[in-house]
Parts: sequence; structure tokens; C-alpha cells
Amino acid sequence: MTAARDRRRALGGVLYGADYNPEQWPADVWPEDVALMRQAGVTCVSVGIFAWARIQPTEQSFDFAWLDRILDLLHDGGIGVNLATATASPPPWVSNRYPEILPSDENGARFWPGSRQHFAPSSPRYRQLAGRLVRRIAERYADHPAVVLWHVGNEFGCHLPMDFSDAARDAFRDWLRDAYDGIDALNDAWGTDFWSQRYHDFDEVFPPRKAPYSRNPAAMLDFRRFTSDMWLQCYLAERRILRDAGAGQPITTNLMGPFKPADYARWAPHLDVIADDCYPDPADPHAVRHAAFQRDLMRSLKPGVPWLLMEQAADAVSWRPFNLGKRPGRLAAETAQCIGRGADGIMFFQWRQSRAGSEKFHSAMLPHAGTGTRTWRDVVTLGETIAALPALPPPGRDARVALVFDWENWWAVEERDHPTTLDYLELVRRWYRALHRRHLMVDIVAAERVDDGYDLVIAPQLYLLREAGAATLASFVEGGGTLLVTPFSDIVDEHDRFRPGGFLTQLGPLLGIRLTDFGVLVPPGGVGVGERTAPFTDARGTAVGTLLAEEIHAVDAEVVAVFGTGAPAMTSRTVGTGRALYLATIPDEQGTQHLVDGLIELTGVRPVVEGLPPFVEAARRGDLVTLVNHGERSVTIAVGGTDVLAHAEVRHVVLEPDGFAFLHVPTSEESP
Ligand code: GAL
Repeated sequence: MTAARDRRRALGGVLYGADYNPEQWPADVWPEDVALMRQAGVTCVSVGIFAWARIQPTEQSFDFAWLDRILDLLHDGGIGVNLATATASPPPWVSNRYPEILPSDENGARFWPGSRQHFAPSSPRYRQLAGRLVRRIAERYADHPAVVLWHVGNEFGCHLPMDFSDAARDAFRDWLRDAYDGIDALNDAWGTDFWSQRYHDFDEVFPPRKAPYSRNPAAMLDFRRFTSDMWLQCYLAERRILRDAGAGQPITTNLMGPFKPADYARWAPHLDVIADDCYPDPADPHAVRHAAFQRDLMRSLKPGVPWLLMEQAADAVSWRPFNLGKRPGRLAAETAQCIGRGADGIMFFQWRQSRAGSEKFHSAMLPHAGTGTRTWRDVVTLGETIAALPALPPPGRDARVALVFDWENWWAVEERDHPTTLDYLELVRRWYRALHRRHLMVDIVAAERVDDGYDLVIAPQLYLLREAGAATLASFVEGGGTLLVTPFSDIVDEHDRFRPGGFLTQLGPLLGIRLTDFGVLVPPGGVGVGERTAPFTDARGTAVGTLLAEEIHAVDAEVVAVFGTGAPAMTSRTVGTGRALYLATIPDEQGTQHLVDGLIELTGVRPVVEGLPPFVEAARRGDLVTLVNHGERSVTIAVGGTDVLAHAEVRHVVLEPDGFAFLHVPTSEESP
């Protein structure tokens, strides 16, 4: 028990390290690795993620000698180990002997071995073989003093958003049996009287494989829930084995930010610490704000608990068609963003660049070109910075703004056969970008997680709205909050069925409006006869709406913006001291900023630091304020506090391009 507590404490500081794949190198390289890790300030490495074939070379044999040696070397070097369960890539003997573990695409065509993640998560045989491996690893290393954390699998679902194999077919039928109280309940939920789809037995149901035409949307939605659950079950099964073998260390798996196939909101309670892999695309003009969104999403998954950046690239990745490197300073700036937004671990893929295989061009902490490289110098400097950080406060209730983001809604709103085609993540992130430009802290949560700790809540395209979510949003407004509901919200129930009584059946009374038409516009860049945009005007000016210009009727609400036609574009209903706003169109980038600026005026929500230019990022984490200059010129920022790296009181900071500062600024001093 004491040992377990000590190991937990070992996660206390900011971890620094990487995936470490020593099995790719001769043993005489390993001592040099450890020596260089020490030079770089590495405190933790993830070992064994893809080592199944080395640990269990045949079904009957296990080889732990090399792993014993590595763990001992690392421990002697003072480096903690995030030990993997090694189940992410079954070795060739598994696929040859048990081809039933192989997953299939929607045509029923198999995915063959030769890469990684070639297993059906629902395959009982895969789970049995993986379980046996994990048990052996756990029994051997649960008490190893080097092990500070467990890394289950790897990026569950990354390459296999959905598996349609026979294993999935059987498991899906069982999953449905559990989810529904009899086949008629399923028929009702899926609306199977449409197109003669009525089932008499669960064994008649197939996974939604390739069909001649549009597949039942409720079946698709359940299949996505099932898929997320299958990956989660793999994680949970391994977690259980680790605990049963006496492993007391925290257990996690590496998430991938807003990853559509897995509903991380449902996963989060089962991870002791949230871990994330993030590879901002240097070619994405919104890379900084999208990375910030991802960090905030990770922080919001487990409030109050610092998360770990499990993987980032030291320089270029190798898996995009064009792999731009990071400009000097970017690595540290991106790292500062993570820490500011709640990370207590900065890890890379990977420690030493591979000498063979698909990722040999992927950058690493230790480049193939060696230590005489900029990347190595940057990695060492960053290690020094991280080592100099004091203990950081846990993320607090720092955000007064929440953005509603919901995986089930994501799945449902992007199904086909809708009035228009929406990119949910893009639309949510458009609101996030506007809030980020104004330096507001934002939590990213499901509707059910909204509470009176927030002043402003924005709910983009909440097409699938569960009863509990609707009730939470209503009580938020009744408690004095300001809620903005946007078009194509509150349309269907959790089975993608219209609710009786039209649209906005739950939020309509709160908003004081009725919705009678979606008013589909010609999409941006699309062809067709009709309006492409729907300009709308409010008290602060005119902005552009796109995609939808809904026909709404203010029954018990004030019209606060109108379309060019004079029809209502935005309404506001006062409820006690709260407000329920409805927007009937999807604003473009500038329009979204225009509205966010109006909401800031309306609600009085305040930035982390006042008066910053949009290219400077500011984040608050308890008493720690982080500033990062993502712009191309130096800036001087008037802000008082203690520079925690320089140990000096400051009244302003000067940030060069890609410069950053960590300041201790107690919350009370920030308030007026
Ligand atoms: C991640 C993965 C790593 C490595 C990395 C390369 O998706 O977990 O194993 O492949 O990408 O960027």
C-alpha cells in the first residue's frame, strides 16, 4: 500500500518523457538511451506498447528477460516507467492461428495483419489472448519500483473507427439484448416499420454493413454506441486484470482529443488520469486554437485532475502527405499551452527515432541525426524548463463559459438524409475559436454537466437532446445563466426519432419560440438556385449566416436580430435573471465573433487577462496564469504577478514570438 502511494506520488510533478521502444534496438544502445534521457531531463517513459511479439514470441513462450533488464536500467537511472499492456498489435502467430480475431470493413472484407490494430475489439478470442498476456505482465511487474503508471492498449479505435466482422455481429446482438427490454422495444426505438425492417428476434439483426441505400439511422447510432463500448470493454478488461494482479499505480490509456468513434465522456470515469495524444497540424491556420480546444476538452473530461499529454511530436510527423516541421520555438510554445490548460505531463512519440518501419521519418526526442541537432537542443532546453517548474495547482473551476459538446449528438447530427450537411466538430470549434480570441476560459461539456458555476453556455447544433440535458439547460437559465441555443437543436430523442409535437419540444417553452422550417440555404461553395447567405442585423451591426435560415416565431420572446427579410434571426427570453437566446442561422467566422463579442458584453464574462491581442493566448489554472505569444512580433503585456520560472515579481511581461510565461496570479487579485 505504501509502495502504491509512493508510486502515485511519483506522478506528482510534471512528467517529461516519451514512448520508448528499446526492442527496436540492440541491447548495447540501451545504456546510452538512459544516459541521454537523463541529459534531456526525462523522468518517465512508456515502455512495451508494441512489444507483444517480443514478450510472447509463440503462444507457449514468454520472454521477459529483456524487459526486466530495461526496467532495471531505467529504474537505476531514476526514470519512471509507464508500462504498457502490449496488446495494441497482435503478433503474426495470433493472426495465423486465430484469424477470427481479424476485423472487417463494412463490405465484410477483412483487415489483414501487417500493420497494427488488426483485431476486432469484440472478438472473444482476442480478449482471451490479450487477457493472458496482460495477466503475465501484471503479475511480473505490479510491484516493480520503476512502474509509476499503466498504459492500456494504444489509441483504441484509431485506425478502425468501426468493425463489422462476425465477432462484431455476435457481440452487437448481445449488446442490443442488454440495451432493450425485448425485440419490440428495439423495433419501437429503431422505427422498423419504415421500409419493412421489423425484427422478430435479436439474431436477425446485423451490424449495419454496406446496404443498397441509406441505413436505418437509429441502428447506425446504436452501432456507434456499441463500437465505443467495445473499445471501452477492452480497456476495462485489461484494467481489471491489472488491479486483480495487485497493481496499485494509476491506470490510463491514450485518448485522441475529439475522436468521433469513442465517447470519451463515458470513458473518463474509468481512467485514473486522462492522457491525450495531440499532433497540431502546422498547415492548419487554426492549429493553435484547435489544439487549445483539445486541451480544454481533455481537462473538462475529469474536472480538477491534471491530465497528461501522452504524445506530441518533437518536430515533424510522418503520416501526413506533407510533413512540415515545427518552426523554432513552437515546441516549447505548444508545451506551455498544455501546461496552462491543465497538463501535468509532457511526453512525446517517441524517444529515439526508429531506424526501420512505417514511422522512420517521424521526429523523436533523439533524432536519427543525433544530438547535434536543433530538435535535441530544444528537447534538452524544454526538459530544463519543466524541471524548473514548481508544483502546479490542479485545474480549478476556472471557466465561466461552457461550450456544449456531445458525442451522441455528433454521431446523430452527421447522419445522412438531413436537411443539410453539417460538420459538427467544425461548428463547435468555430464558437471555441471566437471565445479563444477573446481569452476566455472555456469548459467543453455535455449538456448534463452544465451548472451554475457558468455564466454563459453555448450549445451548437444540439440536434439530439436527451431529457436530462434539456432539464439541466433549463435549470441553468432559471438559476440566472445565459444560454445560447443554435439552429437544428432539440430535434430528436436518443433514438434519432422526432418527439411528438414538432421541433424544440423541450427547449421551445424556455426559449419562447416555435420553429416551423429549417430554411436550407445553398451551402458555401455549392451550386444551386437560391440564397447562399442569410445576413442578419442586431443592435451591434450586421453579420452573415450560412447553411440554415430557420423560420422561427417569437411566442414569448423578444426579437433581438432580424434577417434581411425582416424575419426573426435571434430571440431572447428573460427568465428571472437568466436569459434563453435562440439563433436561427449558422454564422460564419466573423459572424460568430460578432455574436461572441455581444455575449461578452451581455454577460460580463471576463478574459483571463485584459487587453491582450488575439494572437496571445491566456489560460488560467487555479492561481497559475499562462501566456503564450503565437504571433510573429514581440509583445509587452501589462500583468502583475510572480513569474514562477524567474522567481520574480513582475508588472508586465515581454513575450517574443513563441515566447511564454507562467505567472502566479491569485484569482482574487484578478477580480475587480
Ligand atoms: C500515434 C500512435 C503512436 C505513433 C504516433 C505517430 O497515433 O499512438 O504509436 O504512431 O501516432 O505520430
